Amino acid sequence: MTQTSWFQNKHIVLGVTGGIACYKACELARELGRRGAIVQVVMTEAATAFVSALTFQALTGREVKISMLDPKAEAGMGHIELARWADLILVAPCTANTMAQLAQGKAPDLLTTLWTAAACEKAIAPAMNQQMWKHPETQANLERLHGKAQIIGPDSGVQACGDVGSGRMSEALDIADTLEKTLHRGPLAGTHVVITAGPTHEPIDPVRYLANRSSGKMGFALAEAANRLGATVTLIAGPVHLETPAGVSRIDVETASDMHASVHSVLDGVDLFIGAAAVCDMRPAAVSDQKLKKSKDDLSQIALVENPDIIQSVATCSNRPTLVIGFAAETESVLEHARQKLTAKSLDAIIANCVSGGEIFGQDDTQVTVVYSDHDQTIAAGTKSEVSQEILTTLSQLLSKRI
Ligand code: PMT
Repeated sequence: MTQTSWFQNKHIVLGVTGGIACYKACELARELGRRGAIVQVVMTEAATAFVSALTFQALTGREVKISMLDPKAEAGMGHIELARWADLILVAPCTANTMAQLAQGKAPDLLTTLWTAAACEKAIAPAMNQQMWKHPETQANLERLHGKAQIIGPDSGVQACGDVGSGRMSEALDIADTLEKTLHRGPLAGTHVVITAGPTHEPIDPVRYLANRSSGKMGFALAEAANRLGATVTLIAGPVHLETPAGVSRIDVETASDMHASVHSVLDGVDLFIGAAAVCDMRPAAVSDQKLKKSKDDLSQIALVENPDIIQSVATCSNRPTLVIGFAAETESVLEHARQKLTAKSLDAIIANCVSGGEIFGQDDTQVTVVYSDHDQTIAAGTKSEVSQEILTTLSQLLSKRI
């Protein structure tokens, strides 16, 4: 499973200005393309002395635009259409000269004209000699740009000219990641969501355990959706065979007791907790050091003790998240039993799913009803990913009323 990037299908004007860091813009064009963006490169004349337009054309599959007075370009997507087309104008590398023009509203070429004409998101990745970067006029221009454009970098280190200091263009990956984080504003932006997923394994002896049929797919789909909607997500996963969704922090656990401890270790400042894990309600009272032998051991009895109720402990603790949402896996009287758990565990809502006949467990599709104290909300059946998106969109609205 992969997270949908903010860049997916976004129109990016990548402005390339004349400095040695132009070579890094090639990697940046590729990285934005890899994340799903449609990249239109606009170069200044000076930039073409460092890297040829043909290189960018090959990397982006689009003809590079350079001149303001190109009759062919103006007959096609002229500068005003291009300014309207763009979701983001990113100037990387941005020289001291271009920074000055952007800061002072000067528009002597196509790139700076586009910048002035566009109302979209804007960002620059400055790149210049460390002395030029420190120059009071450059710093004043930087001040002027604050609030109008995102400034990414520059990094410090050894420069192409041999100087050491601040002024190196940030790496392509860092630029893309920084933009991803700041532009990817969803309804859960600024929130911390903790989700449990999968089964727990309760050891009987070194090779056997008690478990259930949860695959973790539902909890992982929820984590992916929460991340897509802008949340910082911590996923606490029982033993499952699933890849971590991109951008999600994962803690692996085995038993219910481990899961209980891990959940409480991350609970400070959490806005939304979702218990999608199928936690074993009980565990063997004693774990045998050696593999049990059918000939020697009394197999008629494995004494069991109760596991902690994780979600109930979350809902009743002193640092309770704003919303605590459970799941109810039921085989009969689904909504009635879900309602009982909602009250018994002090939850804000519980997501009921019917698992009779082993349904839902391990499958890609699901159908759920969100049960609140005063009403029920049926979510249209779909893939766990689609249903998760729907659930989290609804919960984000509830959360915004509570925060
Ligand atoms: O993982 P998949 O294969 O995708 O399947 C998804 C699922 C069926 C596991 C999922 O949709 C689901 O229903 N998860 C909860 C299963 C469950 O344990 O339900 P429950 O009714 O036994 O528990 C109610 C709630 O209490 C749940 O939020 C559970 O996480 C929590 N609980 C239960 C016991 C316990 N000791 N501690 C808990 O926190």
